Amino acid sequence: MSDRLHTLSGYLYEYQKSIAQPEEFWARIADSFHWRKRWDNVLKWNFDGPDVKWFVNAKLNITENIFERHLYTIGDRPAIIWEPSEPNEPTRTITYRELFVEVCRFSNVLQDKGIKKGDRVIIYMPMVPEAAIAMLACARIGAIHSVVFAGFSSNALADRVIDCEAKAILTSDGNYRGNKKIGVKSVVDEALEKSSVETVIVYQRTGQEVTMKDGRDFWWHEVMAGQSEKHVAEEMDSEDMLFILYTSGSTGKPKGVVHTTGGYMVYTQYSFSNVFQYSPGDVYWCTADIGWITGHSYIVYGPLLAGATTLMFEGVPTYPNPSRFWEVIEKHKVNVFYTAPTAIRALQAFGTDPIQGYDLSSLKVLGSVGEPINEEAWHWYHTHIGKGRCPIVDTWWQTETGGILISPLAGITPTKPAYATLPLPGIQLCIVDPEGNELKGNSVEGNLCIKFPWPSMIRTTYGDHDRCKQTYFSTYKGMYFTGDGVKRDHDGYYRILGRVDDVINVSGHRMGTAEVENAINEHPKVIESAVVAYPHEVKGQGIYAYVICDMTNRTEENLINEIKEMVSKIIGPIAKPDKIQIVPGLPKTRSGKIMRRILRKVAEGSLDSMGDTSTLLDPDVVEKIIEGRK
Ligand code: WT7
Repeated sequence: MSDRLHTLSGYLYEYQKSIAQPEEFWARIADSFHWRKRWDNVLKWNFDGPDVKWFVNAKLNITENIFERHLYTIGDRPAIIWEPSEPNEPTRTITYRELFVEVCRFSNVLQDKGIKKGDRVIIYMPMVPEAAIAMLACARIGAIHSVVFAGFSSNALADRVIDCEAKAILTSDGNYRGNKKIGVKSVVDEALEKSSVETVIVYQRTGQEVTMKDGRDFWWHEVMAGQSEKHVAEEMDSEDMLFILYTSGSTGKPKGVVHTTGGYMVYTQYSFSNVFQYSPGDVYWCTADIGWITGHSYIVYGPLLAGATTLMFEGVPTYPNPSRFWEVIEKHKVNVFYTAPTAIRALQAFGTDPIQGYDLSSLKVLGSVGEPINEEAWHWYHTHIGKGRCPIVDTWWQTETGGILISPLAGITPTKPAYATLPLPGIQLCIVDPEGNELKGNSVEGNLCIKFPWPSMIRTTYGDHDRCKQTYFSTYKGMYFTGDGVKRDHDGYYRILGRVDDVINVSGHRMGTAEVENAINEHPKVIESAVVAYPHEVKGQGIYAYVICDMTNRTEENLINEIKEMVSKIIGPIAKPDKIQIVPGLPKTRSGKIMRRILRKVAEGSLDSMGDTSTLLDPDVVEKIIEGRK
């Protein structure tokens, strides 16, 4: 907790040291943690395997570093403040000591159910403190958690259960979305029809009716009753898996990104403390869902390792009205507020009236994550929420990076709208041209790579190491390839330009175009489809689908609705295309490759800059597509 940088020159000095002597640098940061056994080597690595090990042979448990390490000093401090979706339902405040008791009791529950070190446990839960308790209990007993966003469909959940061969699922009866109760357990039941999951533990949130399968399903409150408050943490190797988190790529099904224990712990605490400049006693609020990496690293692990007070919000920004965020900030005197550009743009659309009358003077730092923040949204956030006095940290990172890699340090690094600014200590960025040549110096633009390991980086993709190698370490030899385009300006500042692969980013949620196409193609009337992103005012990117259909006896309207439902059922509502255009054909080259460049141009409405279409098999198809544009 003493690893905080305080000045720009301090940052620049530390950065240089972290590059010149990375092992010494990280050993010093790691020293403030509790290790049952110290490491033999700080780092062993090669990017060809890839094979990366941090704090080699060190032994620890990450939850001992949250609880036992500083319970005597901060036991009575609030660890989690929970704000429910309904504003008039009571808030819950859980101190570190209370949270520790709950984690110990739930660790005993999991072990009673026969769950052991190395077993995979899926967490499919709403934003309640029990979701964090579930994650921490898994970590305490050495089980590998895989949190699945509760908005994913039963098909998507089933895919993940099967891929990681989960032994148990932790879930809830239902979930609140605005004034609606949504079934959660029922989705689990559907997903489990063909699986061998032995145990399901159900937290009662909404009180709605659920079916419980005898011998498999148990109520959270019943299995917790009478459990001992004592639990001795399992000893983990620094490189033992901590969790798997599924994320979309440009091809195939979502892959399970694997994070391990020691390095992830060190990096999430270090980056949390430095980026947000968190001071003891501050109330910190990240609005993400625990189903995403932001929730893992910056609602649960980073803040709790740093002894922070982390606010967990169950609701959405616009329920019961678009003042909800500002009301929560006033109510809990939030000091650090971390959200996504899509939420800012959605609230910006309501104007400044919903902000009037709320006291936002507690705010010190604002954060942004998940997608590029456009300048207009940046200024609105800065002026109307930060009242011109709160620095904005635009944090660039990925599920695979485990923690924030490029960001201003709040109040230290001078900011520029839409720039993530500079790398954190230990992060060696590299911009390359398409052939993989490094572009040195300033005022350059290319693909963003990282040429040296950092502690919280991806270790493998679960069950398929070769996929990890192919996806991240093969495009450019000896480097981790992020999939993002980037510009380094004349000041050496970084601006992220967006994905250069077939990954799209809708409201900060990552999706593969192939994944959406596969879901569309499940519809019996669909012959072929192609999905591209187009600029969307609120979501950042929207999904535009071009679909060739068998129209016999069907109207366009009902087919389009059915296709949307199909995608919702197979992936989840977040993947539903915003626009579907039924087309007579797709622009293909003579070798059969779809020219997505043309489809993107049509989707974004740049109709006069179609470029060269002479290599197309049937150039007329472009005209027809333009005519039917949505
Ligand atoms: C992709 C990773 C990192 C947590 C949330 C998303 C985009 C993320 C920024 C930013 C511009 C950003 C990138 C990245 N992205 N943060 N501050 N500025 N783009 O995690 O789902 O793994 O997505 O999100 O394109 O590759 P993710």
